[in-house]
Amino acid sequence: MIPKECRRLAEVDFPIAVVSKHSAREKSIRHGHPSTLHLWWARRPLAACRAMLLGLLWPDPCDPRCPEGFKQKARQLLPTVQGRVGPTDEDLRKALLRFIGDFANWDLAANRTYLDVSRALVKAAHAPVDGGAYEPPLVVDPFAGGGSIPLEALRLGCEAFASDLNPVACLILKVMLEDIPRHGPELAEELRRVGGEIKKAAETELAEFYPKDPDGAPPIAYLWARTVRCEAPNCGAEIPLARSFWLCKKPNRKWALKHQAVCPRGEPPRVEFEVIEPKTEKDVPGGTVTRAKARCICCGAVLPPDRVRAQLAAQRGGADVVFDAKGRRMGGARMLTVVLLRPGETGRHYRLPTERDYEAVRQAQTPLPSLQYLQKCDAGRRLPVL
Ligand SMILES: C[S@@+](CC[C@H](N)C(=O)[O-])C[C@H]1O[C@@H](n2cnc3c(N)ncnc32)[C@H](O)[C@@H]1O
Ligand SMILES: [Zn+2]
Repeated sequence: MIPKECRRLAEVDFPIAVVSKHSAREKSIRHGHPSTLHLWWARRPLAACRAMLLGLLWPDPCDPRCPEGFKQKARQLLPTVQGRVGPTDEDLRKALLRFIGDFANWDLAANRTYLDVSRALVKAAHAPVDGGAYEPPLVVDPFAGGGSIPLEALRLGCEAFASDLNPVACLILKVMLEDIPRHGPELAEELRRVGGEIKKAAETELAEFYPKDPDGAPPIAYLWARTVRCEAPNCGAEIPLARSFWLCKKPNRKWALKHQAVCPRGEPPRVEFEVIEPKTEKDVPGGTVTRAKARCICCGAVLPPDRVRAQLAAQRGGADVVFDAKGRRMGGARMLTVVLLRPGETGRHYRLPTERDYEAVRQAQTPLPSLQYLQKCDAGRRLPVL
């Protein structure tokens, strides 16, 4: 057991440059990383947590109070991963710091040898001197968030206690630290099964609100824009608010919306769209909103932010489409594009909306809150009981 007065390794040195490098690299790693389980806004890199925990759990071998058992074990085990360790305590300190830096690498996080060495050294540092029963150290993180610290504590053979004020964090912690270790692949399998059931139920129940195109292509998304009215004299055109008119900007697939102003006699001008395959950036018109100002497509006038805000507030945010008594759109949000998957073809397809699409939206407005599959998801009755 490390005496209370004995310095921990992190109090004298830390391989900060190499740990920072591994921490930065970890951000671009997705496969198998807990960040793919659930996003957490303040998640700390596992690399930094693993390294700092080792630095705090291990004593400084140069401290005269450092347990001999720890030094012996370290001299015996470190050469299995990094070659010979020099004879002095300073050499041992350097070797331990090097191990910490190397083990911060994500690629080694599940490496058997590194795991065994780190756990054995944690045990050697915390084993009772009188030969009594070994109790792993307890790592307590009351602000555990996405759980990087308790997860790494478990990896290093410690006990962990984690809590958080935020219920989302608590759920992430419970799943990651309790459920996954306890049920492993069985849990993943069950989740896939239940997810599949919910998807099927949702597809059946929502099918009527996503009517297929005559060629059988199901719509997968409707792209909308809030709208405001141009307040320039003699204009009054509806301005769809869009930051960009790009629909798809992949290297080999480019789609966008092009617009033109149409000025029928005796009526306010209106904007019509066309789906295009642009050849260059210049083919795609700029967006109509910048810094909360809206630019009219028909006359070019700019509506200042306070007027944009006031008009949207009058529409209760502007996210809803407004229909007249005959079910025709008369204002509010405007559907810009329907995104489709065509059977047997790869990639998404884009087309302009029709009356039929608005009709589907109108039909969906009333029954939406009572949809059964939403209630099932909500009540959690379909979730697996393990
Ligand atoms: C910086 S984050 C922790 C990040 C965590 N180490 C990780 O890797 O994801 C701080 C956490 O403290 C939590 N928190 C803030 N005030 C708290 C309180 N009074 N009690 C418990 N948790 C609290 C927040 O919800 C947040 O998840
Ligand atoms: Zn105008």
